[in-house]
Amino acid sequence: FWSAVPQGPPDPILGVTDAFKRDTNPNKVNLGVGAYRDENGKPYVLESVLKAEDILHQKKLDKEYLPITGANDFITLASELAYGKESKPLQEGRIAVAQSISGTGALRIATGFLSQFYNGPKVVYLPDPTWGNHVPLAEGVGLKVQRYRYFDKKTVGLDFNGMKEDIKNADSGSIILLHACAQNPTGIDPTQEQWKELSELIKAKKHLALFDMAYQGFASGDIIRDAFAVRYFVEQGHQIILCQSFAKNLGLYAERAGTFSIIVSSTEEKERVLSQVKRVIRPLYSSPPVHGAQLVATILGTPELYEQWLTEVKKMADRIISMRDKLYDLLIELKTPGEWGHIKSQIGMFSFTGISPEQVQALADHAHIYMTKDGRISMAGLNEHNIKYFAESLSKAVKG
Ligand code: LMR
Repeated sequence: FWSAVPQGPPDPILGVTDAFKRDTNPNKVNLGVGAYRDENGKPYVLESVLKAEDILHQKKLDKEYLPITGANDFITLASELAYGKESKPLQEGRIAVAQSISGTGALRIATGFLSQFYNGPKVVYLPDPTWGNHVPLAEGVGLKVQRYRYFDKKTVGLDFNGMKEDIKNADSGSIILLHACAQNPTGIDPTQEQWKELSELIKAKKHLALFDMAYQGFASGDIIRDAFAVRYFVEQGHQIILCQSFAKNLGLYAERAGTFSIIVSSTEEKERVLSQVKRVIRPLYSSPPVHGAQLVATILGTPELYEQWLTEVKKMADRIISMRDKLYDLLIELKTPGEWGHIKSQIGMFSFTGISPEQVQALADHAHIYMTKDGRISMAGLNEHNIKYFAESLSKAVKG
């Protein structure tokens, strides 16, 4: 049956972990996948999560199917976190929300729903570069993918004029995917003033803003600041679609907890939209898993746990920021050719180093340091034990 099945390429991000696991060198470092590590390079389970696990254990809850759109307490609390309790559409019951299989699942609901029901051009504009999975998520359901300029190689910063020009030149009503904060892979975000300009432009062009928010709280350590773009667009009357993930900010990678939501015009429209969202979800996986959603709802809904989580997410963000400062200082100390200020100014899980694919390969071959081919490093993979080794190896690779 399967003799004609061709070998597929490794996943550009998760394939890096496989290569890392195969390497037997004791000094190996994995800066590929965006998953937080503590100061000893170990995966980190938040205290607030452990406490929520205890609470759930005591409750001896059943394992009945959730509704197709997920657990009600979870989607209410998750929406309040993203939009803010004072959000007008939230108070008016004009947000159609469904629990999702984390961020990827939310995006899959979004693209599935858009491909069937969007009456504008079925074209999604993605930033160049963007998270690799965005492309198959859109193309897989028949949406056309276009790019808008985002990264300026020369300044290792945002190409804001290019971005605006491309969004302006897109057919009216196009779907514009925006990373809400901590853009993956570049770690470069528009400023608040630039977000305001983008809101105006997107509104003038009647585009649909599709937000991917995978890092609320994780980027700056402040959940309100990281939600600025989403909340501002909503205040300005955009009927956004939002894909929300709890993988990074609660460290719930494998639990796959997230939401898909869409702002609509009325409660009646919400019911119609949700009836179709259910029809997108049902043949994909019937209904979502319960445990991650229960953990999130327990943390967001219990004041002491919520406060503890805020401290913990800030601690993770701050550790990453301190690694940025340290890496920058080391690269300068080592007289590494080039300008490295971007290591400090970039935000969130990743730093886009600007090194070439050949240098990436050299680091894997000679130093056993793994990262994605585009030169993106997960800052969370660095710690006091390996940062000097990494800086020296990077400096050597750059010097050639
Ligand atoms: C990443 O970009 O490394 C993460 O978002 C993990 C993933 O699924 O790709």
